[in-house]
Amino acid sequence: MLICHCNIITEREIEQTIIGLLDQDPWQLIVPAKIYHSMQKRGRCCGCFPNVVETIIRVTENYHARSEASGVDVVSHLDRVRGLRIQYGSRTHEGRKSDHRAA
Ligand code: FES
Repeated sequence: MLICHCNIITEREIEQTIIGLLDQDPWQLIVPAKIYHSMQKRGRCCGCFPNVVETIIRVTENYHARSEASGVDVVSHLDRVRGLRIQYGSRTHEGRKSDHRAA
């Protein structure tokens, strides 16, 4: 599924980038700009960021569910990750006008 229409980035590519970043440091806070920088892309309209945030939350939760870290550490880290919804908006609000969609 295509998440970023401006840069033609699929959900799968974003998932792989998140896992690569978590393999480097499982406790870093991953934000959309960090993913795009890692992929050598730039957010243009940034309307995809709420969907990218939801992907970050899902992949990070699954990643830590498989890890052997203590539950307390995981819960506080995931609270920070879920806080990205406040910063970047939720999936229900794309952050761009409906007439600005590329597809
Ligand atoms: S849709 Fe991703 S930057 Fe515009």
